[in-house]
Amino acid sequence: MDELFKHETNAKGRIDELIRLIKTYDDAYYNKAESLISDFEYDKLLEELATLEKNYPKLKRSDSPLLRVGGDVQKDFKQIAHRYPMLSLANTYSTEEIEDFFRRVSTGLGGEVFAVSTELKYDGVALSLSYRDGILAEAVTRGDGVRGDDITANVRTIKSVPLQVNDVDFGGVKVKNFEVRGEIFLRIPDFLEINIRQDENGLQQYANPRNLAAGTVKKLDPKQVAQRPLQIVCYHFFSDEIELHSQQENYELMQKLGIPTSPFAKLTNSIDDVENFIDKWRQKRHELDFQIDGIVLKVDSIRQQKILGTIARSPRWAIAFKYTAETAKTKLNKITLQVGRTGAVTPVAELEPVNLAGSTISRATLHNFDFITEKDIRPGDTVFIEKGGEVIPKVV
Ligand code: IVH
Repeated sequence: MDELFKHETNAKGRIDELIRLIKTYDDAYYNKAESLISDFEYDKLLEELATLEKNYPKLKRSDSPLLRVGGDVQKDFKQIAHRYPMLSLANTYSTEEIEDFFRRVSTGLGGEVFAVSTELKYDGVALSLSYRDGILAEAVTRGDGVRGDDITANVRTIKSVPLQVNDVDFGGVKVKNFEVRGEIFLRIPDFLEINIRQDENGLQQYANPRNLAAGTVKKLDPKQVAQRPLQIVCYHFFSDEIELHSQQENYELMQKLGIPTSPFAKLTNSIDDVENFIDKWRQKRHELDFQIDGIVLKVDSIRQQKILGTIARSPRWAIAFKYTAETAKTKLNKITLQVGRTGAVTPVAELEPVNLAGSTISRATLHNFDFITEKDIRPGDTVFIEKGGEVIPKVV
């Protein structure tokens, strides 16, 4: 037998064997949440396959697992219909609108007394999780509210998402089949660290934690998702197995099941309480290591929620209060240039230090040169700076 032919035959056999193994491990890892081998061994298999594919390009198979790894592949997700539509909330920005909400609820309830669950509004990606027989069955994005993308394989890699919930007896009922809704997000320090690494590798930095979280759950291979420290917090619970009476009970049950919830929700009884909560977090939100974009108010009693019902695409029993971006005014001392690893040049404003959203700011981005020309910005000018969802302050 000719020498080359013999090598090729051996290579083909090994490639087939490697693909068979990798597929088995992938299936166990992504679909059954089991690690059959260590990451190190798994990577060695991938590496060996990569070397063989490089040396024998003709033998490269179209179903090679390497086509999935490392690339920024846009996966075609299966669409799943939500059992209950995923609603959004009406937004408000002022005290008057909060007062209107209280009035509307009171009228809707025929003057009944009501309590309000006042919660932080996490700025992330909305998600619905279904558990069947206590096991995580499906994780679906909001999509258009009626159907969303099946991102179960990606969500299984998030450490705080229980793949199996605790055995819970809640007032005599074993709860095993239910749906929860929540938000996927990234902590600010994790986001900043990922951006440092992007920069070190000559790659573009991500705009803000929310976009990065959204891109991560939707675009990447589950193996890559696993490397991003995504977090989850849940704020909604449905089940046919049990009738709960309030949002506070929803939280209690989710905690017992082992589903992560926010420790910051508070039961309030008056507009004053709500306004105090809003004011407190307007300041304190900058001490949190994750981003919030407002506060959510929910009528606590589920009986009352049902009376109030839903109009258009938002429930009448809940509302969001959004914080507007904070700005500060200061003097522009000089303009410097920052050169990224890719060679991209960004003009930076060196500022007279000023307090903005809880931290002292002495530098802010000036975006690009067109921005400077357009606004005729010069050293010595007074500028307004803002910290939006961007983490890094900007001149506006
Ligand atoms: S309740 C019907 N609670 O904000 C219940 N939503 O603008 C709807 N969000 O769609 C959701 N934190 O993606 C709720 N504590 C919280 C929330 C929260 C963040 C998101 C969620 C929602 C959007 C509404």
